[in-house]
Amino acid sequence: MTEPAIARRTWTGDMPTGIVSFTSMADGTADDYALLDEYERFYAAGLADRILDTLGHLAGSLGGYHITRLEHSLQAATRARLDGADVNWVVAALVHDIGDELAPYNHSDFAASILQPYVPAEVHWVVLHHGVFQSYYYAHFHGGDRNQRERYRDHQWAGLCEDFCANWDQNSFDPDFPIHTLESFRDDVREVFGRPAWAPEMTAVGSERLR
Ligand SMILES: [Fe+2]
Ligand SMILES: [Fe+2]
Repeated sequence: MTEPAIARRTWTGDMPTGIVSFTSMADGTADDYALLDEYERFYAAGLADRILDTLGHLAGSLGGYHITRLEHSLQAATRARLDGADVNWVVAALVHDIGDELAPYNHSDFAASILQPYVPAEVHWVVLHHGVFQSYYYAHFHGGDRNQRERYRDHQWAGLCEDFCANWDQNSFDPDFPIHTLESFRDDVREVFGRPAWAPEMTAVGSERLR
């Protein structure tokens, strides 16, 4: 069996070319993994636009409300923007329900995982826990405990999560609220998801003020 040729080049932002030598990862070489790293960085550079595309899918999810999940997401992000929140919170508000399409029973975890490498730790924490805090508004109607959020009462970011839900999430189902367009958030999304992943200066605590 002949081995496929490997194209090696320095990643410049252009689409890499070439293919690895292995069919089992255990047989891969340093050159193979350098090439795959180029492909990975090239693909990751398109993350912001894929997130915007995925948000567009929310236009067709979850009936029963006056507005679509996309409109709800835009309304939450618009409220955050109008409140003067920084770009981390605006983008968090925009994507907080992006998991509704594929992770309907753990959508908070889904959105938080997408954000985690790019945002301050407290933004990740708030999105991760927003489902529990949001359940305060309805869990008791299903026979559940609306006060599950009290488990986190002593956490340093519990107040942030309570405010996130109270000010931007639970109230963003209003068909008469003038929302900003998805396109208007493109630069914000590109700013956040265009950052180097896991940069310590970004993922450290540092954006505690909601507005
Ligand atoms: Fe949610
Ligand atoms: Fe929501």
